[in-house]
Amino acid sequence: MVVGSVDWCATITVDEKFEYKPGSFNFGGSFKFHEQSRGWVVAVDADTGAERWKYETAGPQVSGITPTAGGVIFAGDMKGNFFVLDSANGKPVYTAQTGGAVAGGVITYLREGKQYVALTSGNVSRITFGVVGSPTLVIYGLGGTGTAPAAVESVSSHLPDPALGAVTFSKVCAACHGGKAEGGIGPGLTGLAQRMDFAATVQWIENPSAKMPKLTPSPLNVQAVQDVAAYVQGL
Ligand code: HEC
Repeated sequence: MVVGSVDWCATITVDEKFEYKPGSFNFGGSFKFHEQSRGWVVAVDADTGAERWKYETAGPQVSGITPTAGGVIFAGDMKGNFFVLDSANGKPVYTAQTGGAVAGGVITYLREGKQYVALTSGNVSRITFGVVGSPTLVIYGLGGTGTAPAAVESVSSHLPDPALGAVTFSKVCAACHGGKAEGGIGPGLTGLAQRMDFAATVQWIENPSAKMPKLTPSPLNVQAVQDVAAYVQGL
């Protein structure tokens, strides 16, 4: 059996006046990660539970792990590394930098006689430590020689469009601010315009406090920031 893990210390401080808040992370006080983070892929003997080998990853390891009958294991880490390990001893046989946190599933499939490996890279999930990156589907083919293409950035430009902003909001912001901006681990944004105007909202998204991840230039480009700012201004 092969499992991934996160190895990251944090200091949790008890707050006697702590109040439970539904939909939030409730640690009973404040929570601060230490700078150093890493992960492990560990192989254990399914009969005895004895550890066979372990492979240290540069970032926390939360992606799917895909063992194969071919004797290799596919997985990735939060620092964007995709890796192929030898099932027998955990030694890496191939690694690549995907450019975004690898936090989703990793699959392999056969099509017209050729084997492929597909994975997601880049994410905005609130449970993946604020790491972002343009959400991208990466597909490797066995025997290929090409390099990974650079992420495509939209260069279209138009007046701030709240309808487009609503789509961005549900994909990128809702995880923290709630589907209807009612609040979650981030504050509720209804009535935002009363305390923050359009320009200040754009500025905030471009330079948020340490509690909110920086989402520019990826996954949000200049236009996407304007659109989503127009949307939240109307809440
Ligand atoms: C990973 C969680 C997370 C994501 C994703 C996120 N935010 Fe936030 N946001 C926060 C937190 C936490 C705060 C409160 C920061 C503070 O108080 O320092 C915040 C604060 C804000 C504020 C200031 C609110 C106020 O009343 O002062 C705005 C505006 C905002 N976010 C907009 C957005 C928009 C728009 C998006 C999507 C493009 C977004 N946020 C994505 C966590 C998030």
